[in-house]
Amino acid sequence: MSILEFKNAFYTHGDDDIINDLSIKIDKGDFIYIVGPSGGGKSTFLKLCCHLISLTKGKILYKGIDMNQYDPIDLRLDISYCFQTPYLFGDTVEDNFLFPYKVRNKKVDLNKIYELLEQFKFNRDFFKKEVKNLSGGEKQRIALIRNLLFKPEILLLDEVTSALDAENTLIVEDAIKDLNEDGVTILWVTHDIEQSKRHGNKILTLENGKIKSLEVIQSE
Ligand SMILES: Nc1ncnc2c1ncn2[C@@H]1O[C@H](COP(=O)(O)OP(=O)(O)OP(=O)(O)O)[C@@H](O)[C@H]1O
Ligand SMILES: [Mg+2]
Repeated sequence: MSILEFKNAFYTHGDDDIINDLSIKIDKGDFIYIVGPSGGGKSTFLKLCCHLISLTKGKILYKGIDMNQYDPIDLRLDISYCFQTPYLFGDTVEDNFLFPYKVRNKKVDLNKIYELLEQFKFNRDFFKKEVKNLSGGEKQRIALIRNLLFKPEILLLDEVTSALDAENTLIVEDAIKDLNEDGVTILWVTHDIEQSKRHGNKILTLENGKIKSLEVIQSE
């Protein structure tokens, strides 16, 4: 059984089929890079994957069950979406890291937070930084860490390294590769063709809301 399956999916706005009769099966443990021209439907596809928006026609199955049957809040705890434009809330980095514990009613695990900060080469003091003073690349990584405090079933990444230098891009890539090896299914939108060749077992090209190709990468 696929972890996620699109069946003749349409997302229509006015006369535009932004997602146009798309069918795909995504297996648990897949690491799929999503590429294609700007406006091709990549972000829309990710938003459908976590039910941030709903199909106009067709079906999406999560673990074999129609997505509409799930409580959207439960679904979003399982399927985590990292936005193309990172949005942080509250005043400080701390506010962002405490939130995932709050929504789950769980005790804050400071060790986990420090471990992730270290992995992404931040000092512990970064915890207290004000969100408004962060650089674009820092915002991207803090948003990513917030998504990683609890291991999702599926992690959706929307151009999360676009503002990062080469070194930080590699750190993020390594962290995501580790997660994938730990069983997390990854769908990663990128414009960086080199990136799409580095990891991953499939490359999905979306154009005009349709699948142009789905290439399976042979591991060496
Ligand atoms: N809610 C919406 N209402 C109207 N049009 C929309 C909506 N969401 C997306 N679109 C349009 O759908 C198309 C696909 O948008 P989408 O953001 O999915 O593209 P993308 O492949 O992620 O592009 P980019 O690489 O620039 O991020 C675009 O033409 C966009 O303007
Ligand atoms: Mg996009």
